[in-house]
Amino acid sequence: MYVMNTLADVWSCFTANFYKKSSDIPSNSLPAIAKYMADTSKNVLVMAGAGLSTHSGIPDFRSPGTGLYDNLQQYNLPYPEAIFDLGFFVRDPRPFLSLAKELYPGKKYRPNLGHYLARLINEKGKLLRMYTQNIDGLERLAGLPPEKLVEAHGGFSSASCISCFKEHDPDETREAIFRGEVIRCTNGKCKGLVKPDIVFFGEALPDRFFLYQDDVLWADLLIVIGTSLEVYPFAAIADEVPRDVPRLLLNRDVVGSFGMRKHDTIVTCDIIEGVTRLAKELGWHEELMELYAKHEPCM
Ligand code: APR
Repeated sequence: MYVMNTLADVWSCFTANFYKKSSDIPSNSLPAIAKYMADTSKNVLVMAGAGLSTHSGIPDFRSPGTGLYDNLQQYNLPYPEAIFDLGFFVRDPRPFLSLAKELYPGKKYRPNLGHYLARLINEKGKLLRMYTQNIDGLERLAGLPPEKLVEAHGGFSSASCISCFKEHDPDETREAIFRGEVIRCTNGKCKGLVKPDIVFFGEALPDRFFLYQDDVLWADLLIVIGTSLEVYPFAAIADEVPRDVPRLLLNRDVVGSFGMRKHDTIVTCDIIEGVTRLAKELGWHEELMELYAKHEPCM
């Protein structure tokens, strides 16, 4: 029975995407994407990066001058990404543990219109899933349900030992980090270093990330927002969606392979400007503003 279901699933996915009428596929403009999104699309895949949270007050990584990687001089790192490198962390955990105090989600950061647009796409029954590289937890705070969210680079809501992978209490880990302590594993003789489950360079991504291998087959629209698409394997998702699936980029810069596919729409913009224009084209702007104005963080 299971086999039959799977075959039926594959067939319906194949027909749903393969026999898409070319008239369904929008031309390369935001109004056309919005019309397609409102009238036709049912499985929107969203990919997000740090640019989505800059308007919430959290710097991104690579924007010249303001990006995190341009502002780590105090840690005397061999190179900026070392602060999230597992090998460097084992040699000297203090730079990351010191930065972590700045990065911990808390009351000081609020989701912005971009996060709430993702929630609205979901509430309209059109969100297949949102993949985020961000560790700020603002997608959850905006009210995106866990089953619709993949935090591909982890986050602070759990902590574990990097040697034996024993889980540690995230609140105790946070308190120890705020006391400036290096945390050691409590599992018998292990004594490995403990950190929040943020994915470091050199670490495996969470199993949930690999849902994308199916999701890309169901997606009928990809929206990429606020990312340089420089870090793999996350960035690979953008090229895994079938070539007849329209892709929309909302970002200050053109990134990845955008512009190389017939059905790409590129809107180089400030995130909030792009989100607002899309919401207005969709006729959802009023709802979006209401959601933003009234929604209290669900922490
Ligand atoms: N409006 C529009 N675009 C913006 C804005 C904004 N307000 N702010 C930033 N951007 C764009 C930048 O121009 C850049 O193209 O968002 C993108 C952010 O890129 P990065 O700083 O590289 O962030 P990200 O893509 O999330 O980095 C990926 O790198 O170091 C690792 O693990 C880290 O998850 C992170 C990964």
